[in-house]
Amino acid sequence: MKKVGVAILGLGVVGGGTYKILKEHRELYQKSHKIDIVVEAVLERDIEKAVALGVEREKVAANIQEICSNPDVDIVVEVMGGVEPAKTFVLDCLHAGKSVVTSNKELFCKYNHELEVAAKKNHCGLFYEASCVGGVPVIRALLDNLQGNKILSMIGIINGTTNYILTKMSAEGVSYQEVLKEAQKLGYAEANPTADVEGYDAAYKLSILSSLAFHTKIPFSKIYREGITEISVTDIEYGKKFGYVLKLLATGKNGDNGIEVRVHPAFIKNSHPLASVNDSYNAVYITGDCVEDVMLYGRGAGALPTGSAIVGDIIYCATHSNYQYSTFKNTAEASPSTKFIENFESAYYIRLNAADKPGVLAKVSSVFSKCGISVAQMSQEGQTGEDGCVPLIFITHTTRENNVKKAVSLIDASEDIAKVAAVIRVVE
Ligand code: HSE
Repeated sequence: MKKVGVAILGLGVVGGGTYKILKEHRELYQKSHKIDIVVEAVLERDIEKAVALGVEREKVAANIQEICSNPDVDIVVEVMGGVEPAKTFVLDCLHAGKSVVTSNKELFCKYNHELEVAAKKNHCGLFYEASCVGGVPVIRALLDNLQGNKILSMIGIINGTTNYILTKMSAEGVSYQEVLKEAQKLGYAEANPTADVEGYDAAYKLSILSSLAFHTKIPFSKIYREGITEISVTDIEYGKKFGYVLKLLATGKNGDNGIEVRVHPAFIKNSHPLASVNDSYNAVYITGDCVEDVMLYGRGAGALPTGSAIVGDIIYCATHSNYQYSTFKNTAEASPSTKFIENFESAYYIRLNAADKPGVLAKVSSVFSKCGISVAQMSQEGQTGEDGCVPLIFITHTTRENNVKKAVSLIDASEDIAKVAAVIRVVE
């Protein structure tokens, strides 16, 4: 039986989950794939943590060189996260002829071109299913199964932390800050939640997924990014009245005029399949010109779901000799021929705090008209406050981002009309 030696760099949540799966399923893979996968080494500073997981002391490597020079190691699993030292370690392993499986979205998003060059040069595999959407097999679907299509669009809920927070805010009517604190206590959010709540994590993933989907390099720098920290329960509640659910969406579109890639909170109709993706679950809704709509749904994080993606890559690597790389020319920057759309089209939810007096609506309408914005629905909510103002909510027809920005600055500049309290994009 073919023996496959694995080394794991980092025994945190995902590394620990991967170790457990490999150990518990060793016989299963012997039977199903005729391969014997053995963890030959781990790189983990906390030796006792490794030992507690069941790793023999002599298998805890002192440094990366020990792993690179270990002839029993065929595949290295990098689950350390962050750019350094992960990047140096992965390059060292590739240069030593080891194939690499990584869950590191930031590293892969920013340096996949450099890693791919090293992998090709050394005839090694480079696998990254676990870098995007945890246990949901979206990378392989894009690399293989959906290749017959021109992918037209991709809308994803690809960050579990923010989906958990928004689901709780909506279900319990509690503020962002309160839910964040609770999520941190339960381990759903990191002590420093910036990468998740400001949309960086989703943007790294969108960069990787949209590059594969659209067959062209989509660098992180081209992704418009906005997080959920400014979202208020007030807007979630008003949105419900219009039949909307609020989600942090990662959107990629490949149209005749170019590509748009963006991560931001957005309202979607509660009948949309993504509207029922709640708590820490993730989903990616892909539209191809032949297949039409496909939705992949599941656990986007966690020890065993992400470990499942890693082990899938290990098995794939061990059972294939012709490695697949990108479906596009993988350069550091975007190709000069790729056109990106920044002034994208969307419908919008706009909440104004408006003076409750005659003529205000006419003035607001005149600003919208001047900016080329057509109103689809409008509603005046609640009672006039002590400041003489009342919430006015507009849902626009599809318009352009710059039209809305212009309208917002004109309304905010007017002394006596209204102030813009919230602007949220709406998926039609
Ligand atoms: N922190 C991520 C999330 C999981 O909340 O979805 C790893 O990318």
